[in-house]
Amino acid sequence: YSSKYIQYHGLLLSTAAHSQESLEYAQNFPVQDTDVFAVTYPKSGTVWMQEILPLVLNGGDLTPIHTIRNHDRVPWLEFKRLAEIVDKLTSPRALVTHLPYNLMPLSFHASKAKVIYVMRNPKDILVSSYYFHQMAAFLDNPGTFDEFVDKFLEGRVPFGKWTEHVKSWKHAELADRILFITYEEMVQDLPTSIRRISDFLCCNLSEDVIQKIAEHCSFQSMKANTMSNFSLVPKEYMDSDKSPFLRKGIAGDWKNHLGLEQLVRFVSVINEELKGENFSLPWSL
Ligand code: PPS
Repeated sequence: YSSKYIQYHGLLLSTAAHSQESLEYAQNFPVQDTDVFAVTYPKSGTVWMQEILPLVLNGGDLTPIHTIRNHDRVPWLEFKRLAEIVDKLTSPRALVTHLPYNLMPLSFHASKAKVIYVMRNPKDILVSSYYFHQMAAFLDNPGTFDEFVDKFLEGRVPFGKWTEHVKSWKHAELADRILFITYEEMVQDLPTSIRRISDFLCCNLSEDVIQKIAEHCSFQSMKANTMSNFSLVPKEYMDSDKSPFLRKGIAGDWKNHLGLEQLVRFVSVINEELKGENFSLPWSL
């Protein structure tokens, strides 16, 4: 693997975002009972949750999403800069992580912290990730789309195989501490998804507040918000002329990218890896 990555328990991670110290810090992070973790495999809706969660937790006050950049507002657990940001957070804190269940902070397990696991159809993750690898200088060039299909299926991408990530969280014994939600249901009906999140977190939000949050978390609103659209990130890290971070924001863009042979290859590998698992996927592959 290239010098842009380090390996952590078999997973490739970008050295721009992570170091041995930051991963150790994450492992020993003191989780509070009131913490809320949005857990995602990359490109599944992380940044969307960084927008939604503060608004749900604070009753719809727009100040944080207009004044604090998303990665400071809802920090990334395994990110190098967490140690700098963490003291500025007020509880209940919201964090995001791409870690598999077994690499969560040690103190997470004994805590009452809640998890919202956002799942996205892996065919659309593949496409989103392919464009992200083109625009993010801290990731390897994806090669051709066909080559990237193999890289993705073999887990030679940040955070490894999608199937392993999903399995780890589907088997996590967290009872009512975890909510599974899909990117697709959020695209289809954001107010209902926000209602599910708000009920799960026991935030008593009125219908008006839910509607207001949904408006501010729409793809168009986020694209227009400099605190959320990554336009403040220097071009040498993320080049939005190549592809914007907030790229299309739809379900089903895979139909514009995967040929029939690639589709069959993709679906058969994923199905094989999930064979015999006692959970079903929320969409057909
Ligand atoms: S990352 O790099 O892991 O943090 O990326 P992540 O935020 O998980 O995923 C990026 C994709 O999420 C889309 N996105 C949205 N879609 C619809 N509505 C809203 N509000 C929204 N916000 C982010 C973003 O556009 C990426 O998907 P693609 O398919 O590339 O457009």
